[in-house]
Amino acid sequence: MTSSLPLAPAQAVPASVDATGPALSHTPAPALTVVIPTFNERGNLEPLVARLERVLAGIAWEAIFVDDNSPDGTADALRAIGRRDPRIRCIRRIGRRGLAGACIEGMLAAQAPIVAVMDADLQHDEGLLPRMLEAMGVGADVVVATRYAPGGDAEGFSAWRGRGSRLATTLAQRVLHVTSSDPMSGFFMLRRETLEQLAPKLSTQGFKILLDILATAKGRLKVTELSYSFGVRQSGDSKLDNRVLMDFLGLIVAKASGGLVSLRFLSFATVGAAGLVVHLAALRIGLGFALSFLVAQTIATLTAMTFNYVLNNLLTYRDRRLSGWAFLRGLVAFYAICGLGAAANVGAAEWAFYQTAQWWLAGIAGAFIGAVWNYAMSRTLVWKDAA
Ligand code: GDD
Ligand code: MN
Repeated sequence: MTSSLPLAPAQAVPASVDATGPALSHTPAPALTVVIPTFNERGNLEPLVARLERVLAGIAWEAIFVDDNSPDGTADALRAIGRRDPRIRCIRRIGRRGLAGACIEGMLAAQAPIVAVMDADLQHDEGLLPRMLEAMGVGADVVVATRYAPGGDAEGFSAWRGRGSRLATTLAQRVLHVTSSDPMSGFFMLRRETLEQLAPKLSTQGFKILLDILATAKGRLKVTELSYSFGVRQSGDSKLDNRVLMDFLGLIVAKASGGLVSLRFLSFATVGAAGLVVHLAALRIGLGFALSFLVAQTIATLTAMTFNYVLNNLLTYRDRRLSGWAFLRGLVAFYAICGLGAAANVGAAEWAFYQTAQWWLAGIAGAFIGAVWNYAMSRTLVWKDAA
């Protein structure tokens, strides 16, 4: 194929721009990239950059802010700072939200071999960064800035938030066998290479990026901890909400079951169990109206399937909720899938009954196969998996 695009004259491109070639400017390549996720943090940017400048004097650094299109104009404010100081860059994501995903994208865009992640709201003590870098220099794979080791504290938390954080920490340590004193910390450092190896397995939802890194690496990383005092947020509000908590529980369930059970499946199965109650109630009412069993059972089945569909659309798949025509199309597909699921259920139960002669075991096996079928098929055909 011939290109009609005007090509730059060859001599405009330096002969060698690989790692061994001559530096193109007087700015040294960064040794440290600080990744800072932001959502509505405009008021904290100037003081944060001034503090980074102060504590990182003498270190070649860059900062990558990852902003999820904050309505308060965080990205514009960052561009203005970047005009004055090219070490400051901003990745602006549109149509996406999520702290963990933002951190991952920022780390993947880092130029330096070592990356730190910290919050923008001045709750993290940036004065720790040079010591974290030192610890990396003497063999740490991950350096965690901890609130829960001697010398650290979480004063910036309200009483209930502090208790919640500690409970989540204990749960994470017990279930996931993570030994860090603060696996929920949003302030840590690691080699970019380590992150690049783990990245394909990390979840982009929620707040638990460090926990996910430690759990996914399964104890293979040498963790060093440095204590600090978690301060009070300077400007703006915390973004931790119920969804973040659900997400955290989801990670615990998924990792504890080796990826076998997801929070989505548990939600789907719970909705299914509630649907059974609806089914029986509808059947009882139908029989009360002197309908024949076949008619009452048919109406009850349709009622329960519709109930399941609506509830799954509201809860299990709230992040890809269907509406309008897509809602109706999804409902029809769901009826078809559940119909086949019922056949799979009966078939599996019959087989299990011949094998074990235990009616209850066969019943459970059938229900389980039916649920897995309904889940797997509706996940791919109704609430389509994101690519
Ligand atoms: N890009 C992006 N997208 N950034 C986000 C998002 C998001 O959806 N949600 C939050 N952030 C940014 C905030 O702007 C802030 O810089 C940082 O992530 C932390 O968010 P906060 O809302 O301030 O969190 P917190 O102070 O309540 O929670 C702290 O403690 C948690 C554990 O107890 C943080 O340190 C968390 O990282 C930590 O997991
Ligand atoms: Mn905060």
